[in-house]
Amino acid sequence: MSDAKLSFPPEFLWGAATAAYQIEGAAQEDGRTPSIWDTFSRTPGKVLGGDTGDVACDHYHRWREDVRLMADLGLRTYRFSVSWPRVQPTGRGPAVQRGLDFYRELVDELLENGIEPMLTLYHWDLPQELETSFPSGDSAGGGWPERDTAHRFADYARIVGEALGDRVRMWTTLNEPWCSAFLGYGSGVHAPGRTDPAAALRAAHHLNLAHGLGAQALRSVLPARARLGISLNPSAVRPLTDSAADRDAQRRIDALANRVFSGPLLKGAYPGDLLTDTASVTDWSFVRSEDLAVIHHPLDFLGINYYAPAVVSGGADPSAPRHDGHNSADHSPWPAADSVAFHRAPGELTAMDWPVDPSGLTDLLLRYTAEAPGVPLFVTENGAAFDDKPNAAGQVHDPDRIRYLDAHLRAVHKALEAGADVRGYFLWSLLDNFEWAYGYSKRFGAVYVDYETQRRVPKSSAYWYAKAAASGRLPD
Ligand code: NOJ
Repeated sequence: MSDAKLSFPPEFLWGAATAAYQIEGAAQEDGRTPSIWDTFSRTPGKVLGGDTGDVACDHYHRWREDVRLMADLGLRTYRFSVSWPRVQPTGRGPAVQRGLDFYRELVDELLENGIEPMLTLYHWDLPQELETSFPSGDSAGGGWPERDTAHRFADYARIVGEALGDRVRMWTTLNEPWCSAFLGYGSGVHAPGRTDPAAALRAAHHLNLAHGLGAQALRSVLPARARLGISLNPSAVRPLTDSAADRDAQRRIDALANRVFSGPLLKGAYPGDLLTDTASVTDWSFVRSEDLAVIHHPLDFLGINYYAPAVVSGGADPSAPRHDGHNSADHSPWPAADSVAFHRAPGELTAMDWPVDPSGLTDLLLRYTAEAPGVPLFVTENGAAFDDKPNAAGQVHDPDRIRYLDAHLRAVHKALEAGADVRGYFLWSLLDNFEWAYGYSKRFGAVYVDYETQRRVPKSSAYWYAKAAASGRLPD
């Protein structure tokens, strides 16, 4: 490929992403209360090695150093999330000033360094109190299956919007609501660890509603220049063969992975086939007709998180191992889809056992260009875990990650050439961090973290990425 072909637009935003629970630590400081991830990670057997986010990357104390690192790497944007229980303990009532100040200081430091912040309101750390104590008193628990949680989210969105709206321009409501709903309440491999397919579908709807109510609340307090979006993790689902059964499996998973969110968000309706497919699990009576107009709120941009495609076939043996990339578990995250088998897509594997296949990213960017005409896109996450280790000289060489990033940025470039309006790319992740159910065993960072000393060591991929960001071209 010639160099000219690999140039990105001059205004393209090169960035990196993190999330509060995965990096901040300081779990009990300054009035922060537990989130569902604190409870879940402290429950034996839920997270590999018994790891928790209690200390994580200690970013709560080292944020200045981390911003300096970003500035040294020449990042133009940084995507981070706000910890809900840090700014509104227990998820209800007044805000804690110290919590808001932490993010205000972080944002000011970013802006002083010429780094544009993208703020995510919810990256999975629901205040535990909203899971435990809630109006309906359902004995299974509250959280996202409860309608009230969407209203609590809107109040929280308003609090953060009022506090930071004067300095943050790019806002996203939710990160990967699919994971919150289907891994949190379906397969139970994420917090709060419930395994009830009907609750997972209710959670999906109330997350959609939370997005809509949160967007309305933000619009009422943010200046007109603010840009508002959501980060989804749509699945590039492929049928194993062209058979009718495999194509039907693809359609079914596409409904559960993609259209359950894009339907109401972009079209104001749940897809009919989703409602039919899941009729044995729920009658969807929790959806009120007025909800759909709220969810169908015009987006200023759409964030796409992409790691690997999925390959499915029909007529499955439900006891066979499931290669859907979402942690093997006794309970499936896919309601009413027992007949679907997940296969390992071909290609080199990352340390997560996820296949490397950048074509899925091009496909998704073009798909959402067609489905959300006129809505700019961001790749709000893309990256890979590998078993990185410092060498004797203390450096970390990660050629696999450089190849992964290069291939996926080429995939973004291909989508740009085909007409997708992609405004930027956020590498997941700036730092090695707490990889949810895998704890600290998986390293996604462009910067290595020595968890004993909290020393940060930029890996060779960080220098490679810095070159790309500085020149707007992929290095040779
Ligand atoms: C998506 C999530 O948003 C992020 O928190 C996670 O660490 C990465 N995927 C890698 O699994």
